[in-house]
Amino acid sequence: MSFPCYILKAENKMGILSGKHIVLGITGGIAAYKSVTLLRLLVKAGAEVQVVITPSGKEFITPVTLAALSGKPVVSEFFSANTGEWHSHVDLGLWADLMVIAPATASTIGKMANGIADNMLVTTYLSAKEHVMIAPAMDLDMMSHPSTVRNLKTLKEDGVEIIESASGELASHLVGKGRMEEPERIFDRVVAFFNKKKDLTGKKVVITAGPTYEKIDPVRFIGNYSTGKMGFAIAEECAERGADVVLVAGPVNITVSHPNIQRIDVGNAREMLAAVETVAAKSDIAVFSAAVADYRPQSYSDSKIKREGIDDMELRLIKNPDIAAAIGKIKKAGQILVGFALETDNERENALRKMRNKNLDFVVLNSLNDKGACFGTDTNKITILDAGGGERNFELKDKRLVAKDIIDAVVSVLE
Ligand code: CTP
Repeated sequence: MSFPCYILKAENKMGILSGKHIVLGITGGIAAYKSVTLLRLLVKAGAEVQVVITPSGKEFITPVTLAALSGKPVVSEFFSANTGEWHSHVDLGLWADLMVIAPATASTIGKMANGIADNMLVTTYLSAKEHVMIAPAMDLDMMSHPSTVRNLKTLKEDGVEIIESASGELASHLVGKGRMEEPERIFDRVVAFFNKKKDLTGKKVVITAGPTYEKIDPVRFIGNYSTGKMGFAIAEECAERGADVVLVAGPVNITVSHPNIQRIDVGNAREMLAAVETVAAKSDIAVFSAAVADYRPQSYSDSKIKREGIDDMELRLIKNPDIAAAIGKIKKAGQILVGFALETDNERENALRKMRNKNLDFVVLNSLNDKGACFGTDTNKITILDAGGGERNFELKDKRLVAKDIIDAVVSVLE
């Protein structure tokens, strides 16, 4: 008899989650059938799992199956129908080391984002003291509805980890984003959560992220397409690994919420440099992921420049400070400096030159020739070059995982 490979994988990882208490929340979506596989993987890996299911979840998967696999009665109502016993969401919230809601429907996501505690699952969520991750699953129109987008953003700001849905054929037979991530991937995220090393505890990290805007007049600026996603992912990775992080962010449209992250918002390159300089000397690690504008207009016009009477126009630009190079010049012994190089030609050569000229320990090379490794995407494909001549190549992956690879490289030399 042959088993699916993920079952074998979990068996290889037997005991990896032993002693861990996990609340597995299941809501009413077709993907609920996949929760059975997730539950089995968690239990096989040694976790104690308490299933909490919404009333509509029970329409999709029976509590009998879930109770048999988890070895515990499934909780759904506030009171047990047979005994009248009260199920304490507070106790469950305290008991859990982790809460995973998979699948999370649009309705449950909305309730969580707005504190509508009309079932046992959302009530438990509101009482959860530890980390919460959700794996959304819904039809593509629901997924892209402003209400869902807003609610997911709120949850993210509240510190909930979102396991992004995949694209593919949905229950409606439409094809698009909304499929719940595969149970094996969710299981990996659970394992990664518990394995997260606190190897940056006591370390101070400064990170630059996003673009800079160099003003021309009150309504115009010179900027670039950077969204800051990579730098924010690095900040989160460092914070989760125990570091105290100062994140100096140019104008970006993303949020971050972690008690270890202090965010300083800046507009232009000179403001970014000034902010970095206030903390650089005290930092053990500096990561320069910002796409700093190399030039700025020589003069700024206080009033809006009018086009009438101007057929062609010259804008004189002057060089901006190089933040990475400035900190490289005053680098302390033991301090680790990491830069990025986004290149189109002579990639390796240019990256190595930047590492030397800016006195960096690592340079993370992105090639604009690689698909999915660009501004604004959720993925990146990097090569990490180090000052010792080492080179590590990585596959295209989610920026969160790229952040982990970068910080693993930094930690390897800290050790
Ligand atoms: N950098 C910086 N300040 C600048 C320019 C760049 O801190 N004014 C940092 C970036 O954050 C990155 C590294 O230096 O970590 C390399 O940036 P990049 O734009 O690739 O290189 P430049 O030195 O600007 O050279 P060029 O644009 O000519 O490739």
